[in-house]
Amino acid sequence: MSVEPFAAVDVIRTKRDGARLTDAQIDWVIDAYTRGVVGDEQMAALAMAVFLRGMDAEETARWTGAMIDSGERLTLRCSRPTVDKHSTGGVGDKITLPLAPLVAACGAAVPQLSGRGLGHTGGTLDKLESIPGWRAELSADEIDRQLEDVGAVVCAATPTLAPADRKLYALRDVTATVEAVPLIASSIMSKKIAEGAGRLVLDVKVGSGAFMKTRDQARELAERLVAIGAAHDVATTALLTDMSTPLGVAVGNAVEVAESVEVLQGGGPADVVELTLALAREMLALAGLGDVDPERVLASGQAYETWCRMIAAQGGDPEAPLPTAQHVQVIEARESGVVAGLDAYGVGVAAWRLGAGRARKSDPVQAAAGVRCLAKPGDRVERGQPLFELHTDTPEAVAAAEPLLDAALVLKDVTDISPGDADAPAAVEAREGVVLERWGHDRR
Ligand code: URA
Repeated sequence: MSVEPFAAVDVIRTKRDGARLTDAQIDWVIDAYTRGVVGDEQMAALAMAVFLRGMDAEETARWTGAMIDSGERLTLRCSRPTVDKHSTGGVGDKITLPLAPLVAACGAAVPQLSGRGLGHTGGTLDKLESIPGWRAELSADEIDRQLEDVGAVVCAATPTLAPADRKLYALRDVTATVEAVPLIASSIMSKKIAEGAGRLVLDVKVGSGAFMKTRDQARELAERLVAIGAAHDVATTALLTDMSTPLGVAVGNAVEVAESVEVLQGGGPADVVELTLALAREMLALAGLGDVDPERVLASGQAYETWCRMIAAQGGDPEAPLPTAQHVQVIEARESGVVAGLDAYGVGVAAWRLGAGRARKSDPVQAAAGVRCLAKPGDRVERGQPLFELHTDTPEAVAAAEPLLDAALVLKDVTDISPGDADAPAAVEAREGVVLERWGHDRR
């Protein structure tokens, strides 16, 4: 029987009392937890101690390294520079869909290993699985081949990547220890680094529909993510982006694919286009392709061509009609006014209730379910004008979604403000832009 170099209780006590964990303690505790030598109850106590006492940048980077070492690390074989993107999750966040083929069409290779949605935030794989025939599971050889041939792969992460994180994340979920910046940052970065990303752009969402509700929290996370990247030789940039209101019009699965195709064909909502281009510029800069203009490539149709090849390479038919819902219901404005707010969290939960999301990892999702937000902050609406379209295969779900959408939308009465009246106070303003701040090793 091998003798363990530490006792879990001593490691827990060290952090409980506010001291730093040593490198050897961190390496051991993560490895021993993966092996089952450290039990869930001990890891839960340590996670709570980290939650309460924190970990400094060096401890967090080491913790990340230990989680990477708990499993396999992919080595991508690709002649183009590879660059990856990760979003901390939001409502209507379909950006990976137009972004990956766009950046590939600009000359980089994008290996995007993604997840399924849980709760009010959607999952990229759930959205893509609404395309007839498309499959998420690829072998390492298939990933390499597609990266070389097409330049973009969006597929499921394998269970061999950072297994310690898989186990620890499930434990944090049931022990109220998810919301600790060192644990979130190490969880995200361990998976991304294990996936072989040499360069990484992070979309750190801030607002009601995001993990991080305030800018200060999002900044703290962005700073820690960028520092972990630096410690592991992964050039990392983070954008703080607005998630107070949903991105674009569509929230769901097939409805978000349709909106992404609109963007790839030169249209689509302005905020989705803005964020896609901003992230593309950051990714191209990291890949040494900063002189390529993604806006021009998007307009040329090359990104759409790459999308069609990317979908077809994974068995999907990019021309096939997307599934449509059995029931579509429209909610109309009861009064005229200006949309002063549209709460991302409320819309995300409504789409989830309609069947677009899941409550447990094993639940199925409805491909066609979702919400289309027909009025966004800053829009003027007249009484009777459609505000939302609710799509679902389970019409009885509308009763749960409707009050959530009613509460999410704030309509301001502006009858006392005549259009063009320069002295009138601005009733409401559309958000000024999606990108709020930028963090990077070369912070500008
Ligand atoms: N996403 C992750 O992958 N891990 C976290 O801890 C939080 C969000």
